[in-house]
Amino acid sequence: MVLFSVITALFFSCNKPNELEEGHHEDHQTLRSKLDAMSVDSITYSISTDEFLKDLKKVLAEVPDSEFNFYVPERSAMIKSYPCSNCHSKPLDELQKLGEEEIKKAHWNIKVKHADAEVMECATCHNDNNLDELQSLTNKGISLNHSYQLCGQCHSTQYKDWQGGAHGKRLGGWTSPRVVNSCVNCHNPHSPAFESKWPARLNTVKLKQQSSD
Ligand code: HEC
Ligand code: HEC
Ligand code: HEC
Ligand code: HEC
Repeated sequence: MVLFSVITALFFSCNKPNELEEGHHEDHQTLRSKLDAMSVDSITYSISTDEFLKDLKKVLAEVPDSEFNFYVPERSAMIKSYPCSNCHSKPLDELQKLGEEEIKKAHWNIKVKHADAEVMECATCHNDNNLDELQSLTNKGISLNHSYQLCGQCHSTQYKDWQGGAHGKRLGGWTSPRVVNSCVNCHNPHSPAFESKWPARLNTVKLKQQSSD
């Protein structure tokens, strides 16, 4: 019986019209109509992300099972030593006999700090038979412009998040076409982890010095 009256009391209190809420509702309506009057119809709006990315060369991403169409920056034009075949048309032992100048221009400084050396070497990612392209784990060629396909084989969670926009960065603006940074725009493939950093902090020693001056 007690329980019953509690429930009915609750029922009525919930149904009682709330004056405050009504007033709020009206405000909301007028605000809504004000906003509507000020807004621009997004369908007829003609601005495009392209205007903000005039200088960026981009290519359509090739992600067969993605729901979305989007672009990534073209990479091959940004890579210093590309095309690799400028030098790698000769066999490796011949390359090693190149003059000092040539060797200097080569990439002697590249060291892999990624996965264990037992599971990863240059040829895990670069196509030994044609260094102008990358290769998948099943030896299919992958263009340098689409290196996210290479990364996606082993990092499927980030790959999926990236396709939806939860990992990575969108370039230009929110209007179409959608252009996002490729994995290698942020991660160095040879050493992809970011160094951990200390947060900037107040230099208390300096402050003490200043106050005692
Ligand atoms: C200026 C000439 C030059 C260019 C351009 C060049 N390479 Fe090389 N590359 C060399 C030389 C020289 C070596 C041999 C270095 C050594 O073994 O000391 C080499 C070796 C390599 C190796 C084998 C490394 C090893 O230890 O087995 C790989 C892989 C490679 N290059 C990839 C590339 C890729 C990918 C590109 C293009 C993005 C490229 N190279 C562009 C000169 C070049
Ligand atoms: C995890 C995959 C992976 C491994 C392992 C790897 N690379 Fe790369 N490498 C890449 C990708 C992807 C790019 C293209 C990056 C870009 O778009 O800037 C690249 C770029 C390069 C370039 C051109 C970079 C430049 O700035 O000129 C050279 C040279 C190169 N790799 C050589 C090597 C050599 C030599 C090894 C082994 C010691 C190696 N890579 C191992 C993925 C890899
Ligand atoms: C053959 C498999 C393979 C490929 C291809 C590959 N990775 Fe990795 N990656 C690994 C493994 C294994 C590790 C080390 C284990 C870990 O930390 O997840 C790693 C580590 C990383 C890390 C550091 C993770 C951390 O927790 O700090 C990043 C970032 C990364 N990879 C990005 C990339 C990018 C970008 C590419 C493409 C250029 C790529 N990987 C290609 C296997 C791969
Ligand atoms: C806009 C820059 C950006 C792009 C593009 C990007 N990443 Fe990252 N990624 C990051 C940052 C920042 C972190 C966090 C690093 C940390 O916490 O130390 C990260 C972390 C990671 C890690 C470590 C595990 C994790 O989730 O924290 C992996 C693996 C990784 N990224 C792979 C990828 C792959 C694969 C792609 C492309 C499909 C990609 N990233 C694209 C910036 C980027």
